[in-house]
Amino acid sequence: MELIRRVHLMREISQEARGKGRKIALAPTMGALHDGHLSLVRRARELGDIVVVSIFVNPTQFGPEEDYARYPRDLGRDADLCIQEGVDYVFAPEPQDMYPDGFGTYVDVLELSAVLEGATRPGHFRGVCTVVLKLFNIVRPHFAVFGQKDAQQAVILKRMARDLNLDVELIVGVTVRNEDGLALSSRNAFLSPEERRAATKLFRALEEGRRLIESAGETRGPVVEATVRKALAGSKSLRVDYVAVVDSDKLAPVEQISGSTLIALAAWVGETRLIDNVTATPAAAAVGRSGPDLS
Ligand code: PAJ
Repeated sequence: MELIRRVHLMREISQEARGKGRKIALAPTMGALHDGHLSLVRRARELGDIVVVSIFVNPTQFGPEEDYARYPRDLGRDADLCIQEGVDYVFAPEPQDMYPDGFGTYVDVLELSAVLEGATRPGHFRGVCTVVLKLFNIVRPHFAVFGQKDAQQAVILKRMARDLNLDVELIVGVTVRNEDGLALSSRNAFLSPEERRAATKLFRALEEGRRLIESAGETRGPVVEATVRKALAGSKSLRVDYVAVVDSDKLAPVEQISGSTLIALAAWVGETRLIDNVTATPAAAAVGRSGPDLS
């Protein structure tokens, strides 16, 4: 494994690899790697001859009041994990190299970025899209692997790739969870033991929503939303930001559920904001469906 700290070096390496006909697979991350990230790295290992993991806490996707400064960083530990996973290159540039003085070009995927996370975190997806496009241009991957944990991010990045004719295939991996259902997240490290217990409500509430759609035949989006909200109520360390029942691709609210539906939520657990989601397909629409459920 080679640790690359400079943009121009990464570019040279990928250019040479491409020249030799090697397939490059990229797993973009902000570090503090956990098994969720590593599941994407393993997927990248299956897809590419050369695996690049980028580790960059991207300042442009954090709002001024958000946790950029305290976001967990441990490059030494992350690099060791990448060695164990057979990663070829860890690309961990400095912010100044990614955003030199005078930087002034951003990518905006309009409608999809305005809802859910985008409504609470204005500018967030503009930062995500901009850095991911930069990473694509620097690493030149054939495949890029993202997690369903950030479902909206995956939908937006796929739209960016389509709209801008990017020559990269985006792959979305399933959400990796703790035994009690809590989705792995770098931010879980901020939770106190009591908050950690309260956080398990998130997935339980989402599962209730999914059961309602898939087993109880509920087709009214607002009813599912209200049920999930109710399941989240009653804990003093948990405050709901949003619960949304939306179309899995267009992210538009669904009144009448008929196809693949995303139940997404964000909640403050103490001072920590967590997000999670599941997908649900009504039994009628699921007939003949094949392949894994990507929730
Ligand atoms: P980060 O939060 O570090 O996540 C990196 C990737 O890991 C994302 O694609 C995310 O969806 C995925 N991931 C996180 N938790 C997961 C889990 N429990 N199971 C499976 N996959 C999981 O997302 C970002 O970084 C950034 O926005 C980035 C795309 C790197 C751009 O800066």
